[in-house]
Amino acid sequence: MNKVLVSLLLTLGIAGTANAAGDAAAGQSKAAMCGACHGADGNSAAPNFPKLAGQGERYLLKQLKDIKDGNRQVLEMTGLLTNFSDQDLADLSAYFAGQKMSVGAADPLLVKRGEELFRGGKLQEGMPACTGCHSPSGEGNAAAGFPHLGGQHAQYVNKQLTAFREGERTNDGDTMVMRAIAAKLSNKDIAAVSSYIQGLH
Ligand code: HEC
Ligand code: HEC
Repeated sequence: MNKVLVSLLLTLGIAGTANAAGDAAAGQSKAAMCGACHGADGNSAAPNFPKLAGQGERYLLKQLKDIKDGNRQVLEMTGLLTNFSDQDLADLSAYFAGQKMSVGAADPLLVKRGEELFRGGKLQEGMPACTGCHSPSGEGNAAAGFPHLGGQHAQYVNKQLTAFREGERTNDGDTMVMRAIAAKLSNKDIAAVSSYIQGLH
């Protein structure tokens, strides 16, 4: 099926498995090989591997589909999801969403600037605060699919914001919401807000 047709079907909600409910217990039994990079409970040790624990289920499922379809390129996961069905991806999402994301620490030298950006945005440049979508605590909005950020590794967040800004990550939808926001962020801004996010809870 071509992509336009698939997205039309998804929009209309007639692709039967699109909204399959995830089963967390089944997901745990399918998550063994994810643990090598993301940690058994989804709290990865290495700062370039995102934490999945406590991430919103809807957001996780969207990312897994995007990675599987190549709409989001994750070289480390190439081919890994080929044999996972939509139900498998929903189960994995339910499992990781049910875990608790651990929190790191912010760099004390960056925390003030990071907090200003996260809570205040850059209004003079038309960039809204992050809190509007990702919530003041960084929890995100699971129902809306806005990802949980609080406690996420700074190195990973930095890489994503840079990738949105450079147009290397493009799966933020037709509104290009994150590409538009990241376009207003300098490298220094990205370093500050990423460090702030790592310590946020
Ligand atoms: C070899 C290491 C590796 C393995 C194994 C792996 N991943 Fe990943 N995964 C990554 C990396 C690296 C990224 C982030 C890439 C980037 O920087 O954009 C990622 C990103 C993700 C994301 C997006 C997270 C976010 O916050 O947007 C999800 C979801 C995910 N992986 C789920 C899984 C699941 C489920 C499995 C097991 C079926 C798995 N991964 C196996 C390395 C791995
Ligand atoms: C208008 C809503 C909105 C605002 C404001 C917003 N975001 Fe986002 N953000 C999103 C959405 C939606 C996504 C998920 C895109 C997708 O589905 O891939 C996202 C994704 C992200 C991601 C990727 C998360 C991951 O796990 O890979 C990061 C990092 C991020 N946002 C940081 C920020 C920061 C920092 C700010 C403030 C400077 C901000 N966002 C402001 C809506 C928003």
